Amino acid sequence: MEFVDWLWILHPALAVVVIYPLVGMVAYLGRQTRRRRVDRAKARQIAPTAGRDHKDLGKWLTTGMVAIVLVAIAVSVITKSFWSDPGQDPVRAGYLLLALGGTVVALLALWRVQQRWQRFLFALLTWGGVLGLGAQPEVWRVSDDPTSFAFWTSHYWTGVGLVALMLFSMAISPETLRRLAWRRLHLAVSIMAGILLMIQGISGAKDLLEIPLSWQKPTIWSCDFNARRCPGGEQARVEPAILHPVG
Ligand code: HEM
Ligand code: HEM
Repeated sequence: MEFVDWLWILHPALAVVVIYPLVGMVAYLGRQTRRRRVDRAKARQIAPTAGRDHKDLGKWLTTGMVAIVLVAIAVSVITKSFWSDPGQDPVRAGYLLLALGGTVVALLALWRVQQRWQRFLFALLTWGGVLGLGAQPEVWRVSDDPTSFAFWTSHYWTGVGLVALMLFSMAISPETLRRLAWRRLHLAVSIMAGILLMIQGISGAKDLLEIPLSWQKPTIWSCDFNARRCPGGEQARVEPAILHPVG
């Protein structure tokens, strides 16, 4: 593996090592919070801090998810353009850096602001930043047409959908604490997020299997993906039988 391959593995590794274990903890604490509220018999066995811990870890989960998505997008853009072609437009690089900085600032602001409209505004700005950076041509989105089946199988689109749900949960967390209707909305959003997280794990693992190492790329890209055949593939299939005759 070369340095560039390690860069490509950064996002899946962070997802597996940081994000999914965090999802487990947040979901467990969410369940404890609900049990404590709904099931009077069990309430005394559950720590009163479950709700607060759930909310605090939930904020870290949202932040972590935005961070790993930014890492994936940045790696795609840098390695496919600026890395291989240093003659790229510096003005574009400046705009992209500005968008990245703006997205991070909007996310940090979401941690601090109190009023509802401010929370919605900064959640929306963070998501807008992710979408703007993800709209770059280097990012593999499979399809941008929601009426096509390919769109719904895209790791990118389910990923940014998931980010939207997490940002929404973070933006409404004071309301979730106080009002039953908002808590129900949060529950519905979290169930949807759980399903998307499962899909994301599957499509991500599939992507990982399909992306070749940098030194393999020239050969792999000369293959005919529709016919599922690579140049010299026939010989390669016959050779082992000649080199290692059985018996
Ligand atoms: C994997 C994702 C998540 C799941 C499965 C989940 C699940 C839950 C559940 C089951 C409850 C209890 C609802 C009830 O009492 O009826 C809850 C409450 C809550 N959740 Fe989440 N949640 C998730 C993510 C988040 C995130 C990202 C935040 C944002 C910071 C968040 C903030 C809250 C808050 C503030 C409450 C109310 C806590 C309380 O009543 O003390 N959750 N969640
Ligand atoms: C929290 C869950 C995840 C989210 C929100 C997420 C989101 C994204 C997004 C938005 C992209 C950008 C698309 C692109 O650059 O082509 C991406 C790329 C990618 N993801 Fe994920 N992903 C998640 C989990 C995973 C997991 C579990 C794996 C594999 C085990 C994975 C593997 C990949 C790969 C291989 C790429 C393309 C390479 C790269 O850009 O770094 N992802 N992901």
